[in-house]
Amino acid sequence: MLDAPGSSTRSVAALRWDGERLHLLDQTLLPAEERWLSLTGAHDTAEAIARLAVRGAPNIGVAAAYGLAMAVSADPSPAAVREAAGILSSSRPTAVNLAYAVERVHAAASGATGELGERAAPAAARAEAERVHSEEILAAGEIARLGAELLRGRRRILTHCNTGALATPGAGSALGVITALADANPNVTVLACETRPLLQGARLTAWELQRLGIGFELLVDGAAAGLIRTGQVDAVIVGCDRVAANGDVANKVGTYAHALAAAAAQIPFIVAGPTSTVDLGTPDGAAIPVEERGGDEVVAFGGTAIAPDGIAVRNPAFDVTPAALIDAIVTERGVARAPYEESLAALAA
Ligand code: MRU
Repeated sequence: MLDAPGSSTRSVAALRWDGERLHLLDQTLLPAEERWLSLTGAHDTAEAIARLAVRGAPNIGVAAAYGLAMAVSADPSPAAVREAAGILSSSRPTAVNLAYAVERVHAAASGATGELGERAAPAAARAEAERVHSEEILAAGEIARLGAELLRGRRRILTHCNTGALATPGAGSALGVITALADANPNVTVLACETRPLLQGARLTAWELQRLGIGFELLVDGAAAGLIRTGQVDAVIVGCDRVAANGDVANKVGTYAHALAAAAAQIPFIVAGPTSTVDLGTPDGAAIPVEERGGDEVVAFGGTAIAPDGIAVRNPAFDVTPAALIDAIVTERGVARAPYEESLAALAA
């Protein structure tokens, strides 16, 4: 089983690889039920990614890598591998980790086919997927260390969505930083935004923080700006789904509002994520594709209608925070600061 060696025994791993099959903790059911899914190929993995059974930018990249490795084992012909890669990379549009991981496994399989024939492709694809997975575990550890150094002395930390061990292999991104900060200072307390519409903050971050034994309070997203303005927050830290070359950051919808409030109150607004989320090929935030999800997620919850029938709905799953509002981007290779064109190119090239 490849999961998260060395990670805190208090944290969870939402994704396990047994060498042949991918096992995922179905995050749509948390916190009510802890049910594991067993996946066998590209189609069921893409479906799990699209419906958010597995989520968080690094984790969907790793899941897609294993999805493609399983597809290569089933049919290593170049046409079949190309088709499986396409199905997986198009399962969600915003997090660049998906294309990054799928391209790596696809290249490994194609390289093996070229040199040694199709029989070598499955082992090469599996090995590459395992490498992507291990690299993300190591990256999360470094991000936690560097981010906790950056935030040392800050006690009341606001965060958005879920960026912990449910979202990345290993410790998490923003929540990994918070965990390391709390390990060093037990007085650290988290303000966790609920994250409408799918409540990744309420359902998942609260679940993780409770297991970690870190003090926290849950708040509705709309409460954040007022608490920041009245001096009740020392810093904001969030994860990221795609970082453009100029430092603009796409993350869970609602993030931009927190960045505006943090800038107005002059408190640090920090982004944490691995270099696999940095996309130097996307020049700026305007070029980041923002996923629009179904209106059913907004007008109903848990099968209960919370709005009138038949109304028009917008449901962008992400928003883009301009680089000018971001004080630092913490990656496993170091902390990037403005001008981001230069600092990100130096770290992620
Ligand atoms: O739609 P989700 O739940 O996959 O969105 C996740 C986020 O926006 C996270 O903040 C991001 O992926 C970073 S996770 C390390």
